Amino acid sequence: MRNLIALGLLIALLTGSKVLAQQPRWWSPVVADSAMVVSAKSEATRVGVEVLRRGGNAVDAAIAVHFALAVALPSAGNLGGGGFLVVRTSDGVVHTYDYRETAPLAASEDMYLDEFGEVRPDRPSWFGALAVATPGSVAGMKLVHERHATLPWADLIEPAIELAERGFPVDPYSRRLIAGKIDDIRRFPGAAAMLLPTGQLPAVGDTLRQPALARTLRLIAARGPDVFYRGEIADSIVGAMERRGGLITHEDLRRYRAVERPPITFDYRGYTVHSMGPPSSGGITLKLILEQLETVELGEYPYHGARAVHRIVEAMRRAFAERNALLGDPDFVDIPQSILTESYAHDLAASIDTLRATSSIDIRPELSASSARVTAESTETTHFSIVDPMGNAVASTTTINGSFGSLETAAGFFLNNEMDDLTVKPGVPNAYGLVQGRSNAIQPGKRPLSAMTPTIVVQNEDPRFVVGSPGGSTIITTVAQILIGAIDYDMTLAEALDGGRFHHQHLPDTIRAEPWTLSEDTVYQLESMGHRVETRRGYSGRAQGIELGVETGLLYGRSDLRGGGEAAGF
Ligand code: DON
Repeated sequence: MRNLIALGLLIALLTGSKVLAQQPRWWSPVVADSAMVVSAKSEATRVGVEVLRRGGNAVDAAIAVHFALAVALPSAGNLGGGGFLVVRTSDGVVHTYDYRETAPLAASEDMYLDEFGEVRPDRPSWFGALAVATPGSVAGMKLVHERHATLPWADLIEPAIELAERGFPVDPYSRRLIAGKIDDIRRFPGAAAMLLPTGQLPAVGDTLRQPALARTLRLIAARGPDVFYRGEIADSIVGAMERRGGLITHEDLRRYRAVERPPITFDYRGYTVHSMGPPSSGGITLKLILEQLETVELGEYPYHGARAVHRIVEAMRRAFAERNALLGDPDFVDIPQSILTESYAHDLAASIDTLRATSSIDIRPELSASSARVTAESTETTHFSIVDPMGNAVASTTTINGSFGSLETAAGFFLNNEMDDLTVKPGVPNAYGLVQGRSNAIQPGKRPLSAMTPTIVVQNEDPRFVVGSPGGSTIITTVAQILIGAIDYDMTLAEALDGGRFHHQHLPDTIRAEPWTLSEDTVYQLESMGHRVETRRGYSGRAQGIELGVETGLLYGRSDLRGGGEAAGF
C-alpha cells in the first residue's frame, strides 16, 4: 500500500501538473489531490471533471455525468430508466434519493402468465413495450438539483447535448455490446436506427451521433422534467406504448415522483457504511452480509481460501434468502423493522456451520424453485463515484436493466425493461436467476426491488470509500467483496476492486466465481464441504470507486479494469 502511495506521489511530481488525467491501463490507481470522478465512460468522466473545475459541487457533477452517460453509454446510461443516488455532504449529512421506475397503473400480478398460469415463453417482461416501467431518472435529477446543486440545470445538460450532436467514437467495449445484441436490435426499428445508422455494425472509431436524443435533451434543458412527464416527450413515450403494446399512459407519467428515502447506515469494524434502502435491496443485503461476517476475524482467514470463501458465501446465502423473501417497495410492503437490527444478522450467522455448506432449501424453503438458473445476463447498469474539492461525495447507480433495456425507444432514447425485476411469478427466476417472493409481486405503481448498491463509507467522520457497481444481483456481492478487501484485508480500494469475485444469492444453490479467482485446491475443499462451484462466463460487475487516503489526504480513483471506464481528477 505504501509503495502504491509513493508511486502515486512520484507520478504527481513527474507530471508536474495537478491533473493526473487518464486512468493508465495498469495497476496503479489514478491519484488526485482535491477532486475525482470515476465512471464507466471517459466522455462522462471528463464532463464531470469539467463541472467540478468550474466550481460545481459533486451533485452538479453527478447530474452532468448522468446525462452524459445517457448519451455515451446508451446501453445503461439513461433518460428512460431509473436509479439511486447517495450523497454525503461535507457537513457529514447523508441523503439518499430514489428515482426507481414504477409499474404502470394498468399492470397486474399475472400480466406475464399464460392461460395455464405459466410464465409466457417469449418473456414479455424482458423484451418489448410490455417490459417498460414508468421512467424516473429525469425527475430524480431534478430533485437532487433542487436539493443540492449550485449550477444552473441547463448548464449541466449542455455537455450531453454537445456529445449527442457531435457524436463520440465507438470503442471496442461499445461495439461488443452492440454486436452481442445485434439480432435483437434489428427486430426493433428505433433501436436499429440509433445503433446501426448504416444498417451495419459500427466499426471501432466510427462516430455515433444521436440527433434525436440531442433534441430531447435540449427540451429537458429548457423546460425541465415537465416536458418529460407532461409535454412532448410524454407524448412520444405514450405514442410508442400505444403503437407497440405497452401500458404506460399520460396518467402514469404525470403521477411519477422521485423521492428521498432514509439511508441504510451501519457500522462495520469501526467504519460507518451508508447505502441505499428499499426499494433497493442493496443497503439491507450488504448490511446483512457484513454484519454476519463481523462475528469472525475474517482478515485472519487467507484471502480467497476455502475458509474465507465458505464463511462469506454462507453469509451471502442467508442475506439473499431474507432479501428475496421479505423486501419490496416500502410504499407497498411492511418490511420487518427487526431486519435493521444487528442481532438479526448475528442470529443468521449463528446458524452457519463452520465445516459444512447449508443447503439453501433449508433456509426460507418457501422460496424454492423447480429450476433456478441465470437465464440472461448483462453488465449493463452503470455506477459513478464523485468527490469534490469541498469534501462532498456522491455514489450513484443507474440502469435500464438489460443492455439497451427493453430495446423499445421513444424520442431518441432507450426505454427500460425494469418490470422483470418484479416477481413475475413466485418461484420462477428472473433474468438474474433471482427467485423472489410475493413482497415483490407486481402491483400498479409499485417500484421493482433493485440490487443497486451505491455506497459511501466513512471513518472518523471522514469519507473513506465511495463505490458501486452494475451486475444485477451480483452488484451487492461485488460491493461487499470490495469492502471486505479494503477493510478486512487492508488492501487499497483499487486492489480490492481488482480482486476476483464470487457470488451466491440463495438460489440457484451454487457459488459462481469469476475465472482465475478460486484455485483448484480451494474449489476442491469447498466441494468437500458440500458447495457447488461454477466458473462463470465473463466478469462480475464493473465497479467504480474512490478511496480517500487518511495519511496522504489524496484521492485514489479506480475504474474497474473489467471495463473501459475512466477515473480522472485534479
Ligand atoms: O435494479 C437492479 O437490480 C437491476 N435492474 C440491475 C441490472 C443490472 O445491474 C444489469 N447489469 N448487469
